[in-house]
Amino acid sequence: MKVVKLLLATSNAKKVEEIRKILPSGFELLTLKDIGFSEVIPETTNTIVGNSSQKAWFVFNRTGLNCLSDDSGLEINALGGRPGVDSAHYAGMPPDNVKNIDLVLKEMGELQERGARFVTVMTLILDGNEHQFEGEISGAITRSPIGTNGFGYDPIFVPAGFETTFAHMEAVDKNMISHRAKALEKLNEFFASKA
Ligand code: IMP
Repeated sequence: MKVVKLLLATSNAKKVEEIRKILPSGFELLTLKDIGFSEVIPETTNTIVGNSSQKAWFVFNRTGLNCLSDDSGLEINALGGRPGVDSAHYAGMPPDNVKNIDLVLKEMGELQERGARFVTVMTLILDGNEHQFEGEISGAITRSPIGTNGFGYDPIFVPAGFETTFAHMEAVDKNMISHRAKALEKLNEFFASKA
């Protein structure tokens, strides 16, 4: 496979770090910072699929570079799928991970049904054509935060089949099973099938 050069259409440094660690060699990743892109990227649709597409097209239209966006969120069964598309700013603006977690735990109280899933939709704009790759992982919400690794809701999410939260696992373990890992595996297969 020849080297694939992609601009990551995200200003979330934690997502960039995970994507870099997950993607195999063969990808050369540029960040918005690398190219001095500092515009605020709009996310104004009301779905993860829509926002993912919107972010990728915005950056592609401004730069003309092949790019990859990541829109993701936590969907909790007992909360009817919330925080979902509002995950980043669930407790209001500006986005605050601690406040978001506090609000989720408060809303869930002592509920027995604690099932949830992380989802991501990655949009690739390649030579002006859009391709989307989805990944999800099921799990459960804890009753209090555990661990300090990762980002966002990692301290309260235990992936199915594991005993502890994403934030209490090593990054390398999260990156083998996460929603992001699954979407990137599809992206990798897409490029491999074109080679
Ligand atoms: P957006 O994709 O920028 O709209 O924001 C996604 C939000 O979902 C993040 O700010 C986190 O709060 C949450 N999120 C997405 N992926 C993860 C993850 O892997 N771990 C923890 N939280 C995540």
